[in-house]
Amino acid sequence: MRISVIGCGYLGAVHAAAMAELGHEVIGIDIDANKIANLAEGKPPFFEPGLPEILSSAIASGRLSFSTDMADAAGATVHFVAVGTPQKRGSSAADLRYVNAAFASLAPHLAAGDLVVGKSTVPVGTAARLAADLTAAGSGAMLAWNPEFLREGFAVKDTISPDRLVYGVPSGAEGERASALLNEIYASAVATGTPVVVTDYATSELVKVAANAFLATKISFINAMAEIAEVAGADVTQLADAIGYDNRIGRRFLNAGVGFGGGCLPKDIRAFTARAEELGRGESVAFLKEVDQINLRRRQRVVDLTVEALDGRANEKKVAVLGLAFKPYSDDVRDSPALEVAVQLRGLGARVVATDPQAIENSRRLHPQLEYEADALDALRDADVLVLVTEWPEFRELDPVAIGEIVRTRTIVDGRNCLDAAAWRAAGWTYRGLGRP
Ligand SMILES: NC(=O)c1ccc[n+]([C@@H]2O[C@H](COP(=O)([O-])OP(=O)(O)OC[C@H]3O[C@@H](n4cnc5c(N)ncnc54)[C@H](O)[C@@H]3O)[C@@H](O)[C@H]2O)c1
Repeated sequence: MRISVIGCGYLGAVHAAAMAELGHEVIGIDIDANKIANLAEGKPPFFEPGLPEILSSAIASGRLSFSTDMADAAGATVHFVAVGTPQKRGSSAADLRYVNAAFASLAPHLAAGDLVVGKSTVPVGTAARLAADLTAAGSGAMLAWNPEFLREGFAVKDTISPDRLVYGVPSGAEGERASALLNEIYASAVATGTPVVVTDYATSELVKVAANAFLATKISFINAMAEIAEVAGADVTQLADAIGYDNRIGRRFLNAGVGFGGGCLPKDIRAFTARAEELGRGESVAFLKEVDQINLRRRQRVVDLTVEALDGRANEKKVAVLGLAFKPYSDDVRDSPALEVAVQLRGLGARVVATDPQAIENSRRLHPQLEYEADALDALRDADVLVLVTEWPEFRELDPVAIGEIVRTRTIVDGRNCLDAAAWRAAGWTYRGLGRP
Protein backbone atom coordinates (compact mmCIF):
# COMPACT_ATOMS: atom_id res chain seq x y z
CA MET A 1 0.00 0.00 0.00
CA ARG A 2 1.19 3.54 -0.72
CA ILE A 3 0.93 5.59 2.43
CA SER A 4 1.68 9.16 3.49
CA VAL A 5 2.22 10.14 7.12
CA ILE A 6 1.64 13.83 7.81
CA GLY A 7 3.48 14.98 10.95
CA CYS A 8 6.67 13.11 11.86
CA GLY A 9 6.98 13.64 15.61
CA TYR A 10 6.99 10.99 18.35
CA LEU A 11 3.93 9.35 16.83
CA GLY A 12 4.34 10.01 13.11
CA ALA A 13 8.03 9.17 12.68
CA VAL A 14 7.53 5.82 14.37
CA HIS A 15 4.35 5.18 12.42
CA ALA A 16 6.03 5.97 9.08
CA ALA A 17 9.02 3.74 9.78
CA ALA A 18 6.86 0.93 11.18
CA MET A 19 4.51 0.97 8.18
CA ALA A 20 7.52 0.73 5.83
CA GLU A 21 8.88 -2.09 8.01
CA LEU A 22 5.56 -3.89 7.42
CA GLY A 23 6.18 -3.68 3.67
CA HIS A 24 4.24 -0.57 2.70
CA GLU A 25 5.64 2.25 0.59
CA VAL A 26 5.69 5.33 2.82
CA ILE A 27 6.32 9.05 2.48
CA GLY A 28 6.69 10.97 5.75
CA ILE A 29 5.84 14.68 5.57
CA ASP A 30 6.50 17.41 8.13
CA ILE A 31 6.76 21.21 8.06
CA ASP A 32 9.92 21.04 10.20
CA ALA A 33 12.71 20.97 7.57
CA ASN A 34 15.38 20.10 10.12
CA LYS A 35 13.41 17.09 11.38
CA ILE A 36 12.84 15.88 7.83
CA ALA A 37 16.52 16.28 6.88
CA ASN A 38 17.54 14.17 9.89
CA LEU A 39 14.89 11.53 9.29
CA ALA A 40 15.91 11.26 5.63
CA GLU A 41 19.45 10.45 6.81
CA GLY A 42 18.07 7.80 9.15
CA LYS A 43 18.56 9.92 12.26
CA PRO A 44 15.50 9.99 14.54
CA PRO A 45 14.93 13.50 15.94
CA PHE A 46 14.21 11.96 19.37
CA PHE A 47 15.18 8.93 21.43
CA GLU A 48 13.01 5.87 20.91
CA PRO A 49 14.42 2.36 21.37
CA GLY A 50 14.38 0.35 18.12
CA LEU A 51 13.54 3.34 15.93
CA PRO A 52 17.05 3.91 14.47
CA GLU A 53 17.15 0.30 13.32
CA ILE A 54 13.79 0.23 11.51
CA LEU A 55 14.33 3.72 10.14
CA SER A 56 17.65 2.76 8.53
CA SER A 57 16.41 -0.55 7.19
CA ALA A 58 13.24 1.01 5.74
CA ILE A 59 15.21 3.82 4.07
CA ALA A 60 17.73 1.32 2.69
CA SER A 61 14.89 -0.81 1.28
CA GLY A 62 13.69 2.21 -0.70
CA ARG A 63 10.23 1.95 0.88
CA LEU A 64 10.56 5.01 3.14
CA SER A 65 11.28 8.60 2.17
CA PHE A 66 10.65 12.02 3.69
CA SER A 67 9.60 15.41 2.40
CA THR A 68 8.49 18.87 3.51
CA ASP A 69 6.30 19.21 0.43
CA MET A 70 2.66 18.19 0.93
CA ALA A 71 2.36 17.66 -2.83
CA ASP A 72 4.44 14.51 -2.33
CA ALA A 73 1.46 12.96 -0.53
CA ALA A 74 -0.31 12.78 -3.90
CA GLY A 75 -0.38 9.24 -5.22
CA ALA A 76 -0.65 7.60 -1.81
CA THR A 77 -3.94 5.80 -1.15
CA VAL A 78 -3.95 6.23 2.62
CA HIS A 79 -2.88 9.42 4.40
CA PHE A 80 -2.27 9.26 8.15
CA VAL A 81 -2.48 12.60 9.95
CA ALA A 82 -0.30 12.52 13.08
CA VAL A 83 0.33 16.20 13.83
CA GLY A 84 0.38 17.61 17.36
CA THR A 85 -2.67 18.65 19.40
CA PRO A 86 -1.07 20.49 22.34
CA GLN A 87 -2.88 22.38 25.06
CA LYS A 88 -4.05 25.81 23.96
CA ARG A 89 -2.28 28.69 25.65
CA GLY A 90 -4.35 30.09 28.52
CA SER A 91 -7.00 27.36 28.24
CA SER A 92 -7.48 23.66 29.01
CA ALA A 93 -8.72 22.94 25.51
CA ALA A 94 -6.77 21.26 22.72
CA ASP A 95 -5.18 23.50 20.12
CA LEU A 96 -6.43 22.15 16.79
CA ARG A 97 -4.58 24.60 14.58
CA TYR A 98 -2.04 21.99 13.40
CA VAL A 99 -4.73 19.44 12.58
CA ASN A 100 -6.75 22.04 10.70
CA ALA A 101 -3.68 23.25 8.80
CA ALA A 102 -2.59 19.72 7.90
CA PHE A 103 -6.05 18.83 6.56
CA ALA A 104 -6.26 22.10 4.63
CA SER A 105 -2.88 21.64 2.97
CA LEU A 106 -3.49 17.94 2.25
CA ALA A 107 -6.93 18.48 0.67
CA PRO A 108 -5.75 19.73 -2.77
CA HIS A 109 -3.57 16.62 -3.19
CA LEU A 110 -6.28 14.03 -2.53
CA ALA A 111 -7.88 11.88 -5.20
CA ALA A 112 -11.19 10.01 -5.34
CA GLY A 113 -11.00 6.84 -3.27
CA ASP A 114 -8.17 8.08 -1.01
CA LEU A 115 -8.55 7.42 2.69
CA VAL A 116 -7.44 10.06 5.19
CA VAL A 117 -6.82 8.54 8.62
CA GLY A 118 -6.70 10.76 11.69
CA LYS A 119 -4.27 9.50 14.34
CA SER A 120 -3.90 12.65 16.43
CA THR A 121 -5.80 12.75 19.73
CA VAL A 122 -8.69 15.17 19.18
CA PRO A 123 -11.77 16.41 21.04
CA VAL A 124 -14.87 14.38 20.24
CA GLY A 125 -16.68 15.92 17.26
CA THR A 126 -13.52 16.90 15.38
CA ALA A 127 -13.63 13.96 12.95
CA ALA A 128 -17.23 14.64 11.93
CA ARG A 129 -16.35 18.27 11.20
CA LEU A 130 -13.25 17.31 9.19
CA ALA A 131 -15.22 14.66 7.26
CA ALA A 132 -17.79 17.28 6.29
CA ASP A 133 -14.96 19.59 5.12
CA LEU A 134 -13.47 16.77 3.05
CA THR A 135 -16.81 16.07 1.41
CA ALA A 136 -17.32 19.76 0.71
CA ALA A 137 -13.88 19.99 -0.93
CA GLY A 138 -15.15 17.44 -3.46
CA SER A 139 -12.06 15.24 -3.97
CA GLY A 140 -14.01 12.07 -3.26
CA ALA A 141 -11.61 11.16 -0.43
CA MET A 142 -13.06 9.77 2.81
CA LEU A 143 -12.07 9.91 6.46
CA ALA A 144 -11.43 7.36 9.20
CA TRP A 145 -10.24 8.00 12.77
CA ASN A 146 -7.71 5.50 14.09
CA PRO A 147 -6.50 6.64 17.54
CA GLU A 148 -3.01 5.65 18.61
CA PHE A 149 -2.25 3.97 21.95
CA LEU A 150 1.54 3.61 21.68
CA ARG A 151 3.68 4.11 24.76
CA GLU A 152 6.85 6.16 24.30
CA GLY A 153 9.76 3.85 25.05
CA PHE A 154 7.86 0.93 23.49
CA ALA A 155 6.51 2.79 20.47
CA VAL A 156 7.97 0.53 17.77
CA LYS A 157 6.59 -2.65 19.31
CA ASP A 158 3.26 -0.98 20.12
CA THR A 159 2.89 0.25 16.52
CA ILE A 160 3.79 -3.06 14.88
CA SER A 161 1.92 -5.22 17.42
CA PRO A 162 -0.77 -3.04 19.02
CA ASP A 163 -2.97 -4.51 21.75
CA ARG A 164 -6.07 -3.35 19.89
CA LEU A 165 -7.06 -1.41 16.79
CA VAL A 166 -9.89 1.08 16.78
CA TYR A 167 -11.40 2.33 13.52
CA GLY A 168 -13.88 5.20 13.57
CA VAL A 169 -15.56 5.07 10.17
CA PRO A 170 -18.67 6.39 8.46
CA SER A 171 -21.65 4.06 8.17
CA GLY A 172 -22.45 1.96 5.11
CA ALA A 173 -20.32 1.00 2.11
CA GLU A 174 -17.80 3.84 2.66
CA GLY A 175 -17.14 2.63 6.19
CA GLU A 176 -16.72 -0.95 5.01
CA ARG A 177 -14.19 0.16 2.43
CA ALA A 178 -12.30 2.25 5.00
CA SER A 179 -12.17 -0.72 7.41
CA ALA A 180 -10.99 -3.02 4.62
CA LEU A 181 -8.15 -0.62 3.73
CA LEU A 182 -7.10 -0.33 7.39
CA ASN A 183 -7.22 -4.13 7.78
CA GLU A 184 -4.94 -4.40 4.75
CA ILE A 185 -2.48 -1.92 6.26
CA TYR A 186 -2.49 -3.68 9.62
CA ALA A 187 -2.71 -7.15 8.04
CA SER A 188 0.04 -8.67 10.19
CA ALA A 189 -1.58 -7.52 13.47
CA VAL A 190 -5.05 -8.54 12.28
CA ALA A 191 -3.76 -11.99 11.26
CA THR A 192 -2.40 -12.62 14.76
CA GLY A 193 -5.79 -11.97 16.33
CA THR A 194 -5.41 -8.34 17.46
CA PRO A 195 -8.90 -7.20 18.47
CA VAL A 196 -10.36 -4.68 16.02
CA VAL A 197 -13.13 -2.37 17.20
CA VAL A 198 -14.98 -0.86 14.24
CA THR A 199 -17.12 2.04 15.36
CA ASP A 200 -18.27 5.56 14.56
CA TYR A 201 -16.10 8.70 14.63
CA ALA A 202 -17.30 9.94 18.02
CA THR A 203 -16.68 6.64 19.79
CA SER A 204 -13.20 6.30 18.31
CA GLU A 205 -12.29 9.81 19.49
CA LEU A 206 -13.70 9.15 22.95
CA VAL A 207 -11.96 5.77 23.30
CA LYS A 208 -8.59 7.50 23.24
CA VAL A 209 -9.33 10.20 25.80
CA ALA A 210 -11.29 7.77 27.99
CA ALA A 211 -8.32 5.39 28.07
CA ASN A 212 -5.96 8.20 29.09
CA ALA A 213 -8.46 9.56 31.62
CA PHE A 214 -8.71 6.10 33.20
CA LEU A 215 -4.93 5.67 33.43
CA ALA A 216 -4.47 9.16 34.85
CA THR A 217 -7.21 8.49 37.40
CA LYS A 218 -5.59 5.25 38.48
CA ILE A 219 -2.26 7.01 39.06
CA SER A 220 -3.87 9.89 40.92
CA PHE A 221 -5.94 7.45 42.97
CA ILE A 222 -2.84 5.80 44.40
CA ASN A 223 -1.17 9.18 44.82
CA ALA A 224 -4.21 10.35 46.81
CA MET A 225 -3.75 7.25 48.98
CA ALA A 226 -0.10 8.29 49.36
CA GLU A 227 -1.21 11.67 50.69
CA ILE A 228 -3.36 9.93 53.30
CA ALA A 229 -0.64 7.40 54.09
CA GLU A 230 1.77 10.27 54.75
CA VAL A 231 -0.38 11.70 57.54
CA ALA A 232 -1.57 8.33 58.86
CA GLY A 233 1.87 6.73 59.05
CA ALA A 234 0.97 4.01 56.53
CA ASP A 235 2.95 2.64 53.58
CA VAL A 236 1.32 3.20 50.19
CA THR A 237 3.60 0.72 48.40
CA GLN A 238 2.33 -2.13 50.59
CA LEU A 239 -1.20 -0.81 50.21
CA ALA A 240 -0.80 -0.89 46.40
CA ASP A 241 0.52 -4.46 46.52
CA ALA A 242 -2.35 -5.55 48.72
CA ILE A 243 -5.15 -3.99 46.66
CA GLY A 244 -3.38 -4.92 43.41
CA TYR A 245 -3.74 -8.65 44.18
CA ASP A 246 -7.43 -8.15 43.48
CA ASN A 247 -7.78 -8.95 39.76
CA ARG A 248 -10.54 -6.39 39.43
CA ILE A 249 -8.06 -3.70 40.51
CA GLY A 250 -4.68 -4.97 39.24
CA ARG A 251 -1.26 -3.75 40.31
CA ARG A 252 -0.27 -1.84 37.15
CA PHE A 253 -0.39 1.97 37.24
CA LEU A 254 -0.54 1.83 41.04
CA ASN A 255 2.97 3.11 41.71
CA ALA A 256 2.71 6.14 43.94
CA GLY A 257 5.29 8.78 43.15
CA VAL A 258 5.88 12.18 41.60
CA GLY A 259 2.99 11.57 39.19
CA PHE A 260 2.33 11.47 35.49
CA GLY A 261 3.48 13.88 32.78
CA GLY A 262 4.46 13.83 29.13
CA GLY A 263 2.93 15.07 25.92
CA CYS A 264 -0.34 13.13 26.35
CA LEU A 265 -1.94 12.38 29.73
CA PRO A 266 -1.94 15.89 31.26
CA LYS A 267 -3.14 17.74 28.16
CA ASP A 268 -5.57 14.98 27.19
CA ILE A 269 -7.46 15.03 30.50
CA ARG A 270 -7.60 18.83 30.38
CA ALA A 271 -8.86 18.86 26.80
CA PHE A 272 -11.43 16.22 27.75
CA THR A 273 -12.84 18.37 30.57
CA ALA A 274 -12.90 21.42 28.28
CA ARG A 275 -14.76 19.51 25.57
CA ALA A 276 -17.21 17.99 28.07
CA GLU A 277 -17.98 21.52 29.31
CA GLU A 278 -18.62 22.69 25.73
CA LEU A 279 -21.03 19.78 25.36
CA GLY A 280 -22.85 20.78 28.55
CA ARG A 281 -21.61 17.75 30.50
CA GLY A 282 -18.75 19.27 32.45
CA GLU A 283 -19.95 17.60 35.65
CA SER A 284 -19.45 14.12 34.15
CA VAL A 285 -15.68 14.50 34.09
CA ALA A 286 -15.24 17.22 36.72
CA PHE A 287 -13.31 14.61 38.75
CA LEU A 288 -10.52 14.85 36.17
CA LYS A 289 -9.71 18.33 37.51
CA GLU A 290 -9.12 16.70 40.89
CA VAL A 291 -7.02 14.01 39.17
CA ASP A 292 -4.92 16.80 37.67
CA GLN A 293 -4.61 18.65 41.00
CA ILE A 294 -3.56 15.52 42.93
CA ASN A 295 -0.97 14.90 40.24
CA LEU A 296 0.47 18.42 40.42
CA ARG A 297 0.54 18.34 44.25
CA ARG A 298 2.90 15.36 44.13
CA ARG A 299 5.53 17.45 42.34
CA GLN A 300 5.31 19.98 45.13
CA ARG A 301 5.55 17.19 47.71
CA VAL A 302 8.87 16.04 46.24
CA VAL A 303 10.17 19.61 46.36
CA ASP A 304 8.99 19.97 49.98
CA LEU A 305 10.57 16.67 51.04
CA THR A 306 13.84 17.77 49.47
CA VAL A 307 13.83 21.13 51.25
CA GLU A 308 12.95 19.34 54.49
CA ALA A 309 15.92 17.03 53.94
CA LEU A 310 18.09 20.16 53.67
CA ASP A 311 16.82 21.35 57.07
CA GLY A 312 14.52 23.85 55.41
CA ARG A 313 17.19 25.79 53.48
CA ALA A 314 17.78 24.92 49.84
CA ASN A 315 19.88 27.99 49.22
CA GLU A 316 23.29 27.11 47.76
CA LYS A 317 22.93 23.46 48.66
CA LYS A 318 23.87 21.02 45.93
CA VAL A 319 20.86 19.01 44.83
CA ALA A 320 21.49 16.15 42.39
CA VAL A 321 18.36 15.50 40.36
CA LEU A 322 18.33 12.00 38.86
CA GLY A 323 16.05 12.07 35.86
CA LEU A 324 14.55 14.70 33.56
CA ALA A 325 12.41 12.76 31.09
CA PHE A 326 8.76 12.24 32.02
CA LYS A 327 9.47 8.52 32.07
CA PRO A 328 12.36 6.15 31.40
CA TYR A 329 13.29 5.06 27.85
CA SER A 330 12.23 8.47 26.51
CA ASP A 331 13.86 11.87 26.00
CA ASP A 332 10.47 13.59 26.16
CA VAL A 333 10.34 16.41 28.72
CA ARG A 334 6.93 17.81 27.79
CA ASP A 335 5.15 18.48 31.10
CA SER A 336 7.76 16.34 32.84
CA PRO A 337 7.37 16.12 36.64
CA ALA A 338 11.11 15.46 36.92
CA LEU A 339 12.12 18.60 35.05
CA GLU A 340 9.60 20.67 36.97
CA VAL A 341 10.97 19.48 40.31
CA ALA A 342 14.48 20.45 39.16
CA VAL A 343 13.30 23.89 38.05
CA GLN A 344 11.42 24.55 41.30
CA LEU A 345 14.41 23.57 43.43
CA ARG A 346 16.60 25.89 41.37
CA GLY A 347 14.03 28.61 41.96
CA LEU A 348 14.48 28.09 45.70
CA GLY A 349 18.16 28.89 45.36
CA ALA A 350 19.59 25.38 45.30
CA ARG A 351 22.48 24.52 43.06
CA VAL A 352 20.69 21.93 40.95
CA VAL A 353 22.78 19.50 38.95
CA ALA A 354 20.55 17.27 36.87
CA THR A 355 21.32 14.14 34.93
CA ASP A 356 19.40 11.88 32.57
CA PRO A 357 20.56 9.23 30.09
CA GLN A 358 18.63 10.83 27.18
CA ALA A 359 16.79 14.02 28.10
CA ILE A 360 19.58 16.54 28.85
CA GLU A 361 19.50 18.24 25.44
CA ASN A 362 15.74 18.75 25.45
CA SER A 363 15.87 20.01 29.04
CA ARG A 364 18.73 22.40 28.39
CA ARG A 365 16.82 23.96 25.51
CA LEU A 366 13.91 24.76 27.84
CA HIS A 367 15.88 25.47 31.02
CA PRO A 368 19.43 26.63 30.38
CA GLN A 369 19.60 27.91 33.98
CA LEU A 370 20.04 24.36 35.30
CA GLU A 371 23.40 22.60 35.42
CA TYR A 372 23.54 19.29 33.59
CA GLU A 373 25.95 16.34 33.84
CA ALA A 374 25.79 13.42 31.44
CA ASP A 375 27.45 11.13 33.96
CA ALA A 376 25.28 10.45 37.02
CA LEU A 377 28.36 10.09 39.23
CA ASP A 378 29.49 13.61 38.30
CA ALA A 379 26.02 14.91 39.09
CA LEU A 380 25.89 13.41 42.54
CA ARG A 381 29.47 14.05 43.63
CA ASP A 382 29.43 16.21 46.82
CA ALA A 383 25.63 16.48 46.68
CA ASP A 384 23.76 17.48 49.82
CA VAL A 385 20.74 15.49 48.70
CA LEU A 386 19.76 13.19 45.80
CA VAL A 387 16.32 13.39 44.26
CA LEU A 388 15.30 10.46 42.04
CA VAL A 389 12.46 11.53 39.74
CA THR A 390 12.69 9.31 36.63
CA GLU A 391 13.06 5.59 37.26
CA TRP A 392 15.73 4.78 34.67
CA PRO A 393 17.35 1.38 35.37
CA GLU A 394 20.76 3.07 35.80
CA PHE A 395 19.36 5.06 38.73
CA ARG A 396 17.46 2.14 40.25
CA GLU A 397 20.67 0.13 40.17
CA LEU A 398 22.87 2.73 41.89
CA ASP A 399 24.91 1.15 44.67
CA PRO A 400 24.12 3.00 47.90
CA VAL A 401 27.40 1.88 49.48
CA ALA A 402 29.62 3.06 46.61
CA ILE A 403 27.89 6.38 45.99
CA GLY A 404 27.67 6.97 49.74
CA GLU A 405 31.42 7.62 49.47
CA ILE A 406 31.13 10.47 46.96
CA VAL A 407 28.12 12.48 48.14
CA ARG A 408 28.41 15.09 50.86
CA THR A 409 25.33 13.90 52.75
CA ARG A 410 23.67 10.51 52.50
CA THR A 411 20.14 11.67 51.95
CA ILE A 412 17.87 10.58 49.12
CA VAL A 413 14.33 11.48 48.14
CA ASP A 414 12.94 8.62 46.06
CA GLY A 415 10.25 10.33 44.00
CA ARG A 416 9.33 7.08 42.26
CA ASN A 417 9.40 4.66 45.22
CA CYS A 418 11.63 2.50 43.07
CA LEU A 419 14.57 1.90 45.40
CA ASP A 420 15.06 -0.73 48.08
CA ALA A 421 14.59 1.52 51.11
CA ALA A 422 16.04 -1.07 53.52
CA ALA A 423 19.24 -1.44 51.47
CA TRP A 424 19.74 2.33 51.33
CA ARG A 425 19.09 2.76 55.04
CA ALA A 426 21.46 -0.13 55.80
CA ALA A 427 24.16 1.78 53.86
CA GLY A 428 23.69 4.75 56.18
CA TRP A 429 21.31 6.82 54.05
CA THR A 430 18.35 8.87 55.17
CA TYR A 431 15.74 7.58 52.74
CA ARG A 432 12.46 9.41 52.03
CA GLY A 433 9.83 7.95 49.71
CA LEU A 434 6.35 9.18 48.85
CA GLY A 435 3.48 7.89 50.95
CA ARG A 436 5.85 5.87 53.09
CA PRO A 437 7.00 6.30 56.67
N1 LIG B 1 3.63 10.84 21.67
C1 LIG B 1 2.82 9.86 22.02
O1 LIG B 1 3.18 8.99 22.80
C2 LIG B 1 1.42 9.80 21.49
C3 LIG B 1 0.65 8.64 21.70
C4 LIG B 1 -0.66 8.60 21.24
C5 LIG B 1 -1.20 9.70 20.61
N2 LIG B 1 -0.45 10.83 20.44
C6 LIG B 1 -1.06 11.98 19.76
O2 LIG B 1 -0.43 12.09 18.51
C7 LIG B 1 -0.36 13.45 18.10
C8 LIG B 1 1.08 13.82 17.80
O3 LIG B 1 1.82 13.69 19.00
P1 LIG B 1 3.41 13.71 19.00
O4 LIG B 1 3.82 13.34 20.37
O5 LIG B 1 3.92 12.91 17.86
O6 LIG B 1 3.69 15.27 18.73
P2 LIG B 1 5.01 15.96 18.16
O7 LIG B 1 4.93 17.36 18.56
O8 LIG B 1 6.20 15.13 18.53
O9 LIG B 1 4.85 15.83 16.57
C9 LIG B 1 3.95 16.58 15.81
C10 LIG B 1 4.60 16.86 14.46
O10 LIG B 1 3.64 17.45 13.58
C11 LIG B 1 4.33 18.39 12.76
N3 LIG B 1 3.37 19.31 12.13
C12 LIG B 1 2.66 20.32 12.71
N4 LIG B 1 1.88 20.91 11.82
C13 LIG B 1 2.05 20.25 10.63
C14 LIG B 1 1.50 20.41 9.34
N5 LIG B 1 0.58 21.34 9.07
N6 LIG B 1 1.91 19.55 8.36
C15 LIG B 1 2.84 18.61 8.63
N7 LIG B 1 3.39 18.42 9.84
C16 LIG B 1 3.00 19.23 10.84
C17 LIG B 1 5.29 19.05 13.73
O11 LIG B 1 6.33 19.72 13.05
C18 LIG B 1 5.76 17.84 14.54
O12 LIG B 1 6.92 17.25 13.99
C19 LIG B 1 -0.98 14.25 19.25
O13 LIG B 1 -2.34 14.45 18.99
C20 LIG B 1 -0.82 13.30 20.42
O14 LIG B 1 -1.78 13.55 21.43
C21 LIG B 1 0.85 10.90 20.85
